Amino acid sequence: MSREKKNREMEIATTSAIPEEEEEDEKKKKKKKAKPRSMIKVIAICGSLRKTSMNRGLIRSAIEICEEGIDGMKIEEVEIHLLPFINPDLEMESEVKFPPAVEAFRRRVHGADAFLFAFPEYNYSLPAPLKNAIDWASRPPNVMAGKTAAMVSAAGGSGGNRSQAHLRQIGVFLDLHFINKPEMFIKAHQPPKKFDSHGNLVDAHIKENLKSLLLSLQSFTLRLHPKLLSSS
Ligand SMILES: Cc1cc2nc3c(=O)[nH]c(=O)nc-3n(C[C@H](O)[C@H](O)[C@H](O)COP(=O)(O)O)c2cc1C
Repeated sequence: MSREKKNREMEIATTSAIPEEEEEDEKKKKKKKAKPRSMIKVIAICGSLRKTSMNRGLIRSAIEICEEGIDGMKIEEVEIHLLPFINPDLEMESEVKFPPAVEAFRRRVHGADAFLFAFPEYNYSLPAPLKNAIDWASRPPNVMAGKTAAMVSAAGGSGGNRSQAHLRQIGVFLDLHFINKPEMFIKAHQPPKKFDSHGNLVDAHIKENLKSLLLSLQSFTLRLHPKLLSSS
């Protein structure tokens, strides 16, 4: 083989070795890139209509915790106070089936991947406005079906354990998938002070628990719906 030809072959060998390494690097980079996930959309629903509701304060805290410390999950609150009382007579046989407030609420719920319910306990159960909202969401087609959810309560002496048990039961028929742990039952009126007079959460330990609950909701949602994991 002529020296010139040998040199050219060596040159080709060395130059082609570099793209191979680069190709490996690219593959590694792509693998690393596959980790970021698409945004999980969480709709938060507050079961109390009070202006200075502590449960709404929990939702504000959850939104803040997500914005500051949880990648890939975004929480938005949807209001339920404008919904009429559940009444199938209000449903229409037209393209737009529900009254405007219901239609708007159902659209938001439909667009969610997961839910965060924050609600007090009223007479050993969940507050009527929350049950009303869920009843509207359940009308065919059920816009909550197959989605994940977490719940948290600021209530009286019970901390909301009975109202949460009732919501879990309702979730069976709706085909909602609740995380089991951590549970959060906050005895809101017992010292030390956990909320200020505007309903803002001021207790650092509860904030930590709330973050654990949100992380649990995130990982459960991704486990149940792996398609939400972005591959690009
Ligand atoms: C009609 C009504 C019934 C209630 N029943 C219960 C109850 O059964 N168990 C309980 O722990 N607290 C009960 N409470 C207290 C509320 O759960 C508590 O004040 C809660 O913190 C209010 O939440 P909010 O600040 O988000 O409005 C009741 C309050 C009202 C208004």
